Amino acid sequence: MEPLTAGAIVVDCLLGPGDERSLADDVLDGLTRPLKELPPKHFYDARGAELFDQICELPEYYPTRAERAILLEHSDGIVERTGAAELVELGSGTAAKTRLLLHAMAKAGHLRRYVPLDVTEAMVRETAEQLVEELPGLSVHGIVGDFERHLAHVPPAHDGPRIVAFLGGTIGNFPPGSRRRFLRAIARLLRPGRDWLLLGTDLVKDPAVIEAAYDDAPGVTAEFNRNVLEVVNRELDADFDVEAFEHVAFFDREREWIEMRLRASRRMRVRVGALGLDVDFAPREELRTEISAKFSPERLRGDLAAAGLDLREVLTDPDDLFALSLSTPA
Ligand SMILES: C[S@@+](CC[C@H](N)C(=O)[O-])C[C@H]1O[C@@H](n2cnc3c(N)ncnc32)[C@H](O)[C@@H]1O
Repeated sequence: MEPLTAGAIVVDCLLGPGDERSLADDVLDGLTRPLKELPPKHFYDARGAELFDQICELPEYYPTRAERAILLEHSDGIVERTGAAELVELGSGTAAKTRLLLHAMAKAGHLRRYVPLDVTEAMVRETAEQLVEELPGLSVHGIVGDFERHLAHVPPAHDGPRIVAFLGGTIGNFPPGSRRRFLRAIARLLRPGRDWLLLGTDLVKDPAVIEAAYDDAPGVTAEFNRNVLEVVNRELDADFDVEAFEHVAFFDREREWIEMRLRASRRMRVRVGALGLDVDFAPREELRTEISAKFSPERLRGDLAAAGLDLREVLTDPDDLFALSLSTPA
């Protein structure tokens, strides 16, 4: 275990040049299925990350505001309850909301280390540098990696209790079976009797409110959605006519999740040069780019229990739009 040095930054890069493989595998696998699909992690190149930040500012996009409101109200309480000295964050992005927790940990005199893990290297590095400036005494161990493949690279916990945070409702991007498997993998990072999972989940509500959040009037989410085709064009030498795809977002009432899709406006043949692959789209054929499950208390408790986690506390915003929950290994 490396000693903790205040102000020190370590960044482990687990995504090398060979890691376009992950995109190549996902494109080959996803675009040759009967219902074409690409996983949402490929949205987040530099442009995608910028667009996501803009989405968070939109009046329609309530999740970020609601989660921030919970953290503003309850960060001190979370720190008091957990006694956390260390925060591991999966899909950390710009750590905009996590800062509230880190400041609360610093105020309580516990803060030792922050471990952000994200696929976007620039975000991990910039955030690490800003945070050690902002919070004297903090050390940062960043990981540039894929949380689905690289959880084993999260460094062992130091002495004090640890919170593993998975915010933004990103857990909803997993389909049900892999969601539980992923929660189980997170649970393995937690020491019984000491550590906590802090999980952000979007709540089931009026479908019109959810659909508006994923289909805003100015079209920022539409551009974010289409950006995944720009990523495939650039990284895999493909020739998607990006503007020929229409953004679609709808709430599936039975499964209680929102789906984002891209609908081909006409018949098309797309060449993915790096794979030597031709992909045919029929007129109005759709490519699924994201699911985002919305949670009822039963779904949340059930998923956590299936992963060996006990739900200990659920915190919500004043409008009951979003929930932050604290769980511990059972
Ligand atoms: C919806 S954003 C949420 C960002 C931030 N946690 C928040 O709550 O505002 C998802 C973040 O997770 C990252 N991400 C998505 N899939 C990932 C993966 N498989 N492994 C690591 N990071 C991932 C993205 O780069 C992005 O920063």
